[in-house]
Amino acid sequence: MSSLNLAVIPGDGIGQEVIPEALKVLQAALEGTDVQLTTEEYDLGARRWHATGEALPDEDMEALAQHDAILLGAVGDPSVPSGVLERGLLLRLRFAFQHYVNLRPTVLLPNVPSPLADPGEVDFLVVREGTEGMYVGNGGTMREGTADEVATEVSLNTALGVERVVRYAFEQAQARRKRLTLVHKHNVLVHAGHLWRRITDEVGAEYPEVEVDYKHIDAMMIHLVDSPSRFDVIVTDNLFGDIITDLAGAISGGIGLSASGNLNPSGDFPSMFEPVHGSAPDIAGQGIADPTAAILSAALLLDSRGLTDAAERIRSAVHADLAATAPGTRSTTDVGDAIAAAVRA
Ligand code: NAD
Ligand code: IPM
Ligand code: MN
Repeated sequence: MSSLNLAVIPGDGIGQEVIPEALKVLQAALEGTDVQLTTEEYDLGARRWHATGEALPDEDMEALAQHDAILLGAVGDPSVPSGVLERGLLLRLRFAFQHYVNLRPTVLLPNVPSPLADPGEVDFLVVREGTEGMYVGNGGTMREGTADEVATEVSLNTALGVERVVRYAFEQAQARRKRLTLVHKHNVLVHAGHLWRRITDEVGAEYPEVEVDYKHIDAMMIHLVDSPSRFDVIVTDNLFGDIITDLAGAISGGIGLSASGNLNPSGDFPSMFEPVHGSAPDIAGQGIADPTAAILSAALLLDSRGLTDAAERIRSAVHADLAATAPGTRSTTDVGDAIAAAVRA
């Protein structure tokens, strides 16, 4: 008998709606296995912040660190100043738990309509750096409110931070179709761009079978739309990866299908799994959010614990559900029920 002790943070908006469906499917996938699933829900997000003034108290942080993995819905709410929960809760977790790989697979599944007329076969993996770049909060505001106001956000890129994520990406490429695309903007961001290029060249020398390609972020937006099938593994920094993966979601059938994992590959801290999408205040409370991204994120969670058979059962059930579904909006719970039933079938 093995155990899987999960921390669950539904969070805000549709996070509260999609996470119960992901748990429903996770339970179904582990039925009949020797894995004992336990879950502990953490009340973190807008409600807690309004009640206590804290986004993530230290004692919650310590308790979260004890779990095998974290499943998170989304954070961010119009009633909370922008950035308070995003930085104070989500980014704090990614940084403290050293989630240096933000893994975001993009697959256009059969029967899923893409807004692209002729997308071809879309199956690529974005390996986004998760602990550095523009996200570190290295900046400030001077002379606020005056005509001379200056605001800075300085991107932090370390050799250690770049090397570990680039190496992870090469390992993935080696195990897949052996193509790796580095995305940056080294024609303008010369310092960070140079570091990313040099390290990609150095690490790449250890993976002679992997074909390495480079795209500037602006041109990458063109190619993701006009020929997404050419990509296999994409490695990039935190901000570019954020942007690429929303576009990737859009071309592969919608952000409601896009899963992600914030990985701490060394296993020193729990990895955290969450949909790529946010709390979607525009549809929250209506019961129409697509829970598939959260469900596929739970499959990534199972992968990370070596429970690949159960993860595959979830992915197969999602494929079957999408193949059987006529276009039209289903409720969040209907989708979760259908996928859980397909897992058990
Ligand atoms: P969003 O991803 O929440 O929504 C973008 C659009 O996609 C909206 O039209 C929304 O209705 C739609 N959408 C998102 N998820 C969907 C789903 N599962 N099913 C159907 N439609 C879906 O992005 P946003 O509007 O820029 O951000 C809203 C809030 O979420 C902000 O506070 C933002 O900071 C936060 N956010 C959090 C995360 C996270 O917790 N990981 C990620 C992105 C944004
Ligand atoms: C995401 C989100 C987050 C990010 C925000 C909410 C901090 O957009 O997970 O893609 O930018 O990483
Ligand atoms: Mn994002």
